[in-house]
Amino acid sequence: MTGRFITLEGGEGAGKSTQAALLVTALRAEGLEVVATREPGGTPGAEAIRALIVEGDPDRWSALTELLLVNAARADHVARLIRPALERGAWVVCDRYVDSTLAYQGAGKGVPREALIDQHRLATGNLWPDLTLVLDLPVDLGETRAIGRGRLDRFELTGGGFHDRVAKAFRASVVDDPARVRLIDATRDPASVAAAIWAEVEPLLA
Ligand code: TMP
Repeated sequence: MTGRFITLEGGEGAGKSTQAALLVTALRAEGLEVVATREPGGTPGAEAIRALIVEGDPDRWSALTELLLVNAARADHVARLIRPALERGAWVVCDRYVDSTLAYQGAGKGVPREALIDQHRLATGNLWPDLTLVLDLPVDLGETRAIGRGRLDRFELTGGGFHDRVAKAFRASVVDDPARVRLIDATRDPASVAAAIWAEVEPLLA
């Protein structure tokens, strides 16, 4: 594979979608073919599964069912969009990927890490990003931003310390895999966050 695979991660309201769009524009300005995508979703089949994952009551699914749905969507997304793009040399910028599963279904909902890793291997052929940017924002600030955006999804409605566990897991991922995962302070204005992201991405262009 010759393309690069970059993921943006973080809790609710961290500004991932805004930053993903800015990053895609900056990479295209370098003359690269860039595929902009998101999870859960990214292909018609995976978007249909996304609706099952994000809509409805917080307790609609058990943690295991939720994990299987996330990976069913990811298997389709990787096989039909991400892997073909990387193989033809395109760069892929994805709003959420496996680190969201480790944080939400793992730390948030208690699925053991070995099960998450086994599932990831099966669903993706063990495809990991080249670079992951974790947008770090205090949980209460993210919640306020998410509420400001309108209707809350299943995860945004989940309480009981769930989002604190998720945030802690994202920060831990930077320590666990420093070669791949970088922490970005997302409390700053969008232009400053974009500059911090570009400082991490630019070395990959060489
Ligand atoms: P979004 O609001 O960032 O578009 O993401 C939708 C929700 O899906 C978000 O609350 C996190 C959740 N999610 C998981 O629980 N596990 C995953 O693996 C992914 C990719 C997302």
